[in-house]
Amino acid sequence: MRVERVAAKIVDKWLRKGNMARCMRDILPHSGLSFEDREKVARIVHDIVRYKRYYDYLLESAGKDKRGKNYVLASQRKIKSNMEKLPLEVRESISSSLAGLIERYPDFLKIINREPETILCANLIKDSREKIMEMLREEGFFAQEYVPETAIITSSAARYSKVVKEGFAHVQDASSQMVAKITGQFGHRILDFCAGNGGKSLAIASIYRNRKEIQTYDVNEKKLRILEKRAERYGAKIKVNYEIPVEKFDVVLVDAPCSGIGAASRNPEAKYVEDFSRYGEMQFDILKEAMKNVKMGGYLIYVVCSFSPGETVEIIRRFLKKKPNFVEEKLKMKKDYFKNMDVGAFLTLGDILYLAILQRVH
Ligand SMILES: C[S@@+](CC[C@H](N)C(=O)[O-])C[C@H]1O[C@@H](n2cnc3c(N)ncnc32)[C@H](O)[C@@H]1O
Repeated sequence: MRVERVAAKIVDKWLRKGNMARCMRDILPHSGLSFEDREKVARIVHDIVRYKRYYDYLLESAGKDKRGKNYVLASQRKIKSNMEKLPLEVRESISSSLAGLIERYPDFLKIINREPETILCANLIKDSREKIMEMLREEGFFAQEYVPETAIITSSAARYSKVVKEGFAHVQDASSQMVAKITGQFGHRILDFCAGNGGKSLAIASIYRNRKEIQTYDVNEKKLRILEKRAERYGAKIKVNYEIPVEKFDVVLVDAPCSGIGAASRNPEAKYVEDFSRYGEMQFDILKEAMKNVKMGGYLIYVVCSFSPGETVEIIRRFLKKKPNFVEEKLKMKKDYFKNMDVGAFLTLGDILYLAILQRVH
């Protein structure tokens, strides 16, 4: 019972304020619930946010108030309906813009609606993946290897484990870890241009066991300070730049801000984004800025967690047209992990990430 009550409280707060992750962070740690029960709460809240439009329809049809408690009942399928007849936006609970995109990429619907697994990136600078999995199991968590060689599928409470707290691993989706691996395949000196808190940089440091020269930059200084602390705890050799460096690099990674619909399975609020067009210009401008750091023969790698054309293929087509000194290089890896487009490709190991590899040829 307490699980349902806490879930309803979180949903009520989310209905008022938005930001599902913050609402959970504000309430769950003080709920007095065990890790196992917190996981149950998180699953209910995720489900309600994931299917909010559908549950709205159920509550409206049953004449019930849109309150946390009733959403919890609906999520436990205690209020029923005949789904098949409902329009896609309601049935799958997505914005009308996203419904349009799903008609274009029907395979992606299953991915954005699936219950997310918790994946860790093992810190191979500190120990082997096998050893880190053993440490997780000793703490009572499930651990199973995945792709790439740093990825561990585990239970969601493992994010609070000693393994994570002590920097033996960090929480990171498998597609992002794969981006880190690919980035390192294109050269030794790497600039992570939109480094944020450093998720990709840490994964590069781990996969290549500190043998790559990694530098980072981000407009957000606060994030860079967090990155510095994480790198220290991780034992990762990463140089943080608070200004755009003037040097040239073998590889410049642009993990640009985006709508995040590719990560909707972990952040279901992204399913309700209506306006995908607002990111394109910013993404294009960042790419133009970052390209200045690419040496002759070097690579510019563009990544977004989205599949809207305006954030993905259209950006790269436009860039290649305007900058004929860059040519696209196709991704070479096991076919199960990605879907090639006319330019770039979608990685689908975990989140749906769009990736384009561009080489500076003159
Ligand atoms: C998708 S997030 C990066 C996530 C990060 N790479 C990771 O793996 O954890 C995008 C980042 O781009 C940064 N950003 C936004 N505009 C930028 C700009 N003009 N130049 C550099 N970074 C920018 C944001 O501050 C944000 O941290």
